[in-house]
Amino acid sequence: MSQHFQYDVLVIGSGAAGLTLALNLPESLRIAVLSKGDLSNGSTYWAQGGVAAVLDTTDTVESHVADTLIAGGGLCHEDAVRFTVEHSRDAIDWLIEQGVPFTRDDAPDREDGGFEFHLTREGGHSHRRIIHAADATGAAIFRTLLARAQARHNIELLEQRVAVDLITEHKLGLPGRRCLGAYVLDRSSGEVDTFQARFVVLATGGAAKVYLYTSNPDSACGDGIAMAWRAGCRVGNLEFNQFHPTCLYHPQAKSFLVTEALRGEGALLKLPNGERFMPRFDARAELAPRDVVARAIDHEMKRLGIDCVYLDISHQPADFIKSHFPTVYERCLAFGIDITRQAIPVVPAAHYTCGGVVVDEAGRTDIPNLYAIGETSFTGLHGANRMASNSLLECFVYGRSAADDILRNLAQVPLPEGLPAWDASQVTDSDEDVIIAHNWDELRRFMWDYVGIVRTSKRLMRAQHRVKLLLDEIDEFYSNYKVSRDLLELRNLALVAELMIRSAMQRKESRGLHYTLDYPEQLPDAADTILVPPTYGD
Ligand code: FAD
Ligand code: SIN
Repeated sequence: MSQHFQYDVLVIGSGAAGLTLALNLPESLRIAVLSKGDLSNGSTYWAQGGVAAVLDTTDTVESHVADTLIAGGGLCHEDAVRFTVEHSRDAIDWLIEQGVPFTRDDAPDREDGGFEFHLTREGGHSHRRIIHAADATGAAIFRTLLARAQARHNIELLEQRVAVDLITEHKLGLPGRRCLGAYVLDRSSGEVDTFQARFVVLATGGAAKVYLYTSNPDSACGDGIAMAWRAGCRVGNLEFNQFHPTCLYHPQAKSFLVTEALRGEGALLKLPNGERFMPRFDARAELAPRDVVARAIDHEMKRLGIDCVYLDISHQPADFIKSHFPTVYERCLAFGIDITRQAIPVVPAAHYTCGGVVVDEAGRTDIPNLYAIGETSFTGLHGANRMASNSLLECFVYGRSAADDILRNLAQVPLPEGLPAWDASQVTDSDEDVIIAHNWDELRRFMWDYVGIVRTSKRLMRAQHRVKLLLDEIDEFYSNYKVSRDLLELRNLALVAELMIRSAMQRKESRGLHYTLDYPEQLPDAADTILVPPTYGD
């Protein structure tokens, strides 16, 4: 039997963004935080490098803002960048207060301001400004915030719950456009329950699983972007998919990232013959922004017909490598690669969704009482290319500002009641799950081949044709069979892929992460790609 639940705030997603928001709301509110797998299944847990913030007294807000704007290829919204960077110190102070065990600096340099935590560097940053917990920053943050949330009697953490769709006044044929809750699949009972809430927050992470090769965990299916679009929200800049330059290349290593902080601490990119190639592409060499480095690697791999390039940090002392990068060291060793003595085989892989659901400074979407925060949102911070370690920062800053906005509006928003239950009367159990598996593979492969690091108009048109066929098939499947996590994710990924392709086709230039051979130049004026859903404003 499906069930009805009532909360003040329904947070869909238990990563950095969702947990930050929940912890910044008062204990008087009943809050549900959902995860579609176990609670740690988002990208947050896997973050390695750290969080960018202005912490050192020799660093400035202006410098962090300027670096972000440069990395963003002229497309960042300067107000969003400034807002985020100005709140970066507060965000880190809050994390330290929560108890995150950031790596301390053994010998803080008094001339550099003597900051007690170690700061590393990553591409695009002109200062050391990345605070980290060795090379497993995400796990340290996640565990700390989760423990805080578990200790709060008003926060219910619900695992294996897959949000299917948002419930809005418009969808129910009522006057108004308010969001009232969500339908949620309980994977243990197989039932779709009704969650009624005064406020709903999408904190569902990115959509990098749309690509065959990705650094992301299996949860990154763009569910929040797809749900928001179906509910009538605009989405922005979805053509900007960031490819991380260095994921481990090994047949048994699924999605293992080799952190950019290695390059920040002197690692060099080399061809199989040991030759360094990045200085040929950019004066900043290995520390150029990610779009530049990923494209250079892709270029060299295609030029030479090689399967990977190499990242070499073996010139640094072994003790330094083992203490700063224990995760990378251990993981590579498990595959027979001793990074204190050998270079690491690496390839680019899909890593971050720069676009998403259009929101304002408080994380508000186009639908009243619906918020989007973290990787699922489009705040304008990242422009055409996210600068390393700015994304966790965005989760903390907007998680907080959205919580503040909910609090400001609380008194005016009643608790929804009596919403209709999910109608499963017309569907049966699927006997053809092979179709789902096949379509998953097909989608991810053509996105990799046709909508990857280097694009052409012809490839995009092919991808658009393929995705339309898939969407029709998936729609038919969805109308006839009971929902499962795989089907829901495929449905969302295919929709987000279609939105990405459409966005890429609209951009008649090359800028940041969007590079097309048909329009290799950058246009003089930078403009966002905003897609408007058919139900917008209804
Ligand atoms: P996530 O942490 O991805 O969490 C998403 C949550 O939503 C999960 O709980 C998931 O179960 C839930 N969810 C999704 N769909 C549904 C649904 N339909 N129903 C219910 N729940 C749902 N950024 C940095 O700034 N610094 C770094 O060093 C860094 N390193 C990274 C390393 C790796 C390997 C990866 C993959 C990313 C890295 N990033 C880094 C990016 C950063 O980790 C992410 O952008 C950020 O963690 C996203 O947080 P989030 O809270 O938005 O989403
Ligand atoms: C990394 O550690 O290289 C990832 C950093 C990021 O994605 O911001």
